[in-house]
Amino acid sequence: MMRRRGVCGRMGLVGMLGLGVAVALPLLSVAGTSGAGTSLQLPQIQGLEDPNTFVPADNPLTKEKVELGRILFFDKRLSKDNTIACASCHLAQKGFTDGMPVSTGIKGLKGGRSAPASFNRVYSKAQFWDGRAATLEDQSIGPFINPVEHGFANHDEMVAKMKKIPGYRKLFQEVFGQEITIQDVGRAIASFQRTVLSGNSAVDKFDIGGDQSALNDSAKRGLELFRGKARCTRCHSGFNFSDEKFHNIGIGWDTNTVDLGRYMETKNPEDIGAFKTPTLREIARTAPYMHDGRFKTLEDVVNFYNQGGIKNPHQDNTIIPLELTDEEKQDLVAMLKALNGEGWQHVSAPKSFPK
Ligand code: HEC
Ligand code: HEC
Repeated sequence: MMRRRGVCGRMGLVGMLGLGVAVALPLLSVAGTSGAGTSLQLPQIQGLEDPNTFVPADNPLTKEKVELGRILFFDKRLSKDNTIACASCHLAQKGFTDGMPVSTGIKGLKGGRSAPASFNRVYSKAQFWDGRAATLEDQSIGPFINPVEHGFANHDEMVAKMKKIPGYRKLFQEVFGQEITIQDVGRAIASFQRTVLSGNSAVDKFDIGGDQSALNDSAKRGLELFRGKARCTRCHSGFNFSDEKFHNIGIGWDTNTVDLGRYMETKNPEDIGAFKTPTLREIARTAPYMHDGRFKTLEDVVNFYNQGGIKNPHQDNTIIPLELTDEEKQDLVAMLKALNGEGWQHVSAPKSFPK
């Protein structure tokens, strides 16, 4: 049953991508078998680098592992009080965010930061706003022991709970050939997360595919501004619109709520108040914006940058007032709204969970 759903869930996207994308290969096509499963190839999507080259050699993708990861991602029993799953805060239709300024975990407890988009994670090394997880495997087990997220006291407590579910014992035996371990939970969830992509947006169709009709004139001007006068590509650079570096643009320095961000990890004064540059793909779906979720609209974000962010002693010196006209601001917003894409639409909740 698990195998069948894994295939069906993805066939939809194979068809979808096959239509419009000249370079698309079938998504997650079966490339042969290896070890305890059927190995998977991720699709080539216009605008994105080949994701397969970013999959770590010590955790190869298999169809069965990805399917197990999907189940774990959606299973609310993997929380202290059976109310929260990863998918509670990373909803597909909201660009894998939750639409809230800060997230709510078990017992209605609120965290201190806004949920970032969790697609195209295959391309990032350091995960979280402050980069505290060095791998996606590490990231994938962090939320379980966060007191305001899944709420377990430690990973042993969660694994003990999972071992009481015979269906999980069986699945982990099939996929990893051993009893449930927290490391294998991380491997499965990371593998699932690597299949969640976003590319082939209208900007890619215009910029790479040469389709002049993909963007209207305002968005075309916005793309020029993005790369030129508005200086956005100084940080939102490359195919995933992120330099994968940490910058202080000033969020929190106007109120009494400074989050030290990357500094808490590195203790390097240059990192005070610095946060990881987020991808801008799907940005129209992921409001509200910034690590504290302060901006409801992209217009608010553009106004913020236009004013030169919020000055503070640690602000990145590439953030300066931009002097954009009202029309230029609208153009920039039009371009940002053209970054919704494909590669994640196959994700859906499993119809049932292991018993
Ligand atoms: C209660 C809401 C909540 C739950 C549940 C939750 N997350 Fe998150 N997630 C967040 C927040 C908030 C952040 C940002 C935290 C930070 O950076 O300090 C985040 C960050 C992330 C990131 C980092 C993205 C990036 O750009 O660096 C990934 C990936 C992710 N979560 C996946 C998961 C997975 C997998 C699970 C389940 C194991 C999960 N989340 C459970 C709210 C949640
Ligand atoms: C100095 C590097 C830098 C420059 C230049 C820059 N950004 Fe950012 N951007 C960031 C960082 C870092 C964040 C996250 C900051 C935070 O939450 O504290 C961010 C956040 C954002 C967000 C919110 C993303 C989300 O998921 O919440 C948007 C939208 C955005 N930037 C758009 C732009 C645009 C448009 C420009 C050009 C006008 C631009 N940025 C210029 C580094 C930069």
